[in-house]
Amino acid sequence: MQERLIIFDTTLRDGEQSPGASMTGGEKMRIARQLERMKVDVIEAGFPAASPGDFDAVNAIAHEIKDSVVCGLARANESDVSLAAKAIASAAQGRIHTFIATSPIHMEHKLRMSPDEVVERAVAAVNQARNSTDDVEFSPEDAGRSDLDFLCKILEKTIAAGARTINIPDTVGYTLPDQFGRLIYRLKEKIPNSDKAIFSVHAHNDLGLAVANSLSAILNGARQVECTINGLGERAGNASLEEVVMAVRTRQDVFGCDSNLDTKLIVPISRLVSNITGFSVQPNKAVVGANAFAHEAGIHQDGVLKRRETYEIMRAEDVGWAANRMVLGKHSGRTAFRDRLRILGIDFTNDKDLDLAFTRFKELADKKHEIFDDDLQAIVTERDAEQSNEWLRLISMSITSKTGEHPTAGVTLSVGCNEVFASATGDGVVDAAFKSVDEATGAVSELLLYSVNNITSGTDAQGEVSVRLQRDGRIVNGQGSDTDIVIASVKAYINALNKLEEQITRKHPQIGDTV
Ligand code: KIV
Ligand code: ZN
Repeated sequence: MQERLIIFDTTLRDGEQSPGASMTGGEKMRIARQLERMKVDVIEAGFPAASPGDFDAVNAIAHEIKDSVVCGLARANESDVSLAAKAIASAAQGRIHTFIATSPIHMEHKLRMSPDEVVERAVAAVNQARNSTDDVEFSPEDAGRSDLDFLCKILEKTIAAGARTINIPDTVGYTLPDQFGRLIYRLKEKIPNSDKAIFSVHAHNDLGLAVANSLSAILNGARQVECTINGLGERAGNASLEEVVMAVRTRQDVFGCDSNLDTKLIVPISRLVSNITGFSVQPNKAVVGANAFAHEAGIHQDGVLKRRETYEIMRAEDVGWAANRMVLGKHSGRTAFRDRLRILGIDFTNDKDLDLAFTRFKELADKKHEIFDDDLQAIVTERDAEQSNEWLRLISMSITSKTGEHPTAGVTLSVGCNEVFASATGDGVVDAAFKSVDEATGAVSELLLYSVNNITSGTDAQGEVSVRLQRDGRIVNGQGSDTDIVIASVKAYINALNKLEEQITRKHPQIGDTV
């Protein structure tokens, strides 16, 4: 019988550790609902000890999600494990994932602990976690650079203490596929009680090998893979869920196992994560990039038309490229609007919220004939952003632009309780608009990134703008969408400035006070 490959999605935890990718509780919930709908087995909902907001987000997801296991991350210490246990207490299926570093460099310089102390701490954390749930996962952080015999020792003891899943992270993306595969094989072979746990892998993409390493590990006996939508994650990211899942599904002749995923939801969820985080997907990205199924050379098109398999190894519709169909239009009513959003996992808790979103939808439908799922997601993302930070709001804007002259922008903003007008000239219309916002607010920040994408196709499509700002070492992303890209740009800029204004202190699970 076909063996099951467990898909553990960590978009909401490791994905969120990407600089600027932080999400609100509401945004995390929207993603979690879609992950559940896609039949992801385990959702790592966050690191509850990071901040009260992170705790609440994990707690809310644990409360609502029923079909997927909801997991909370905890460093191997009493207070983290107890917070994770509380956060997942109401889950239908809850897991605690505890970890501690095992490589010589991490133990000596980061933890400043001896190997024996590390083992003791790991076993204590697993024991403590087992008091709250049977489903405990243990990770030896930086396993890719750890000593094999030491790994065998700590893993044997944590399995004996009750860890049911043993996750092997290549934390810094250092290993090569053959080496990583061999590591999994040898651990399973050498650890006497290895059959009592499922072996999992968690690869980072620093050398562009996260997916290759994960696949090599699966070929060598790993039966859980940790991954993220669009490969989002710390530094160069984690293994991309869509690539791992489709490689295993497409090459059934090689893998001998498969996931339970509904792959038709891959593209919609990729768009959702990109819309929420502002991290756009490169056009040539496998599976979910705009060019992934596009054929340019005439000879390829001819081949594909005669017989698809000549140049296509997967079907675009199997990963959800057809799913973003036209769903609503100008004449659609409130009920149709609400029902479609419900299918997308968005429920309005009160009529006022629904009215507001419906007004937005009608405004958009006046400008754009066909409204797609991605347009609806953008409307909700914008509503969430406005609800979570209201310090700054765009009231109106005007632009004057003429060939051969510098454009001028004028903005009226609500800043706190005041209405403020300011105008500025710039090198281009977006530059002028951003300068007028700076003028009105007095806000100082460094623009690290500005990017524009079209949400759907056509010249009436909404432009989706991402802006990344930095102030005092803190990096945030802002998103905005509109059929007018200058307005979308200003919305994105204001969204980022609002985030910079929020004073949030969060602990990072792997850096800083690590135990
Ligand atoms: O990369 C890593 O080691 C991690 C652990 C917390 C599993 O993300
Ligand atoms: Zn990681």
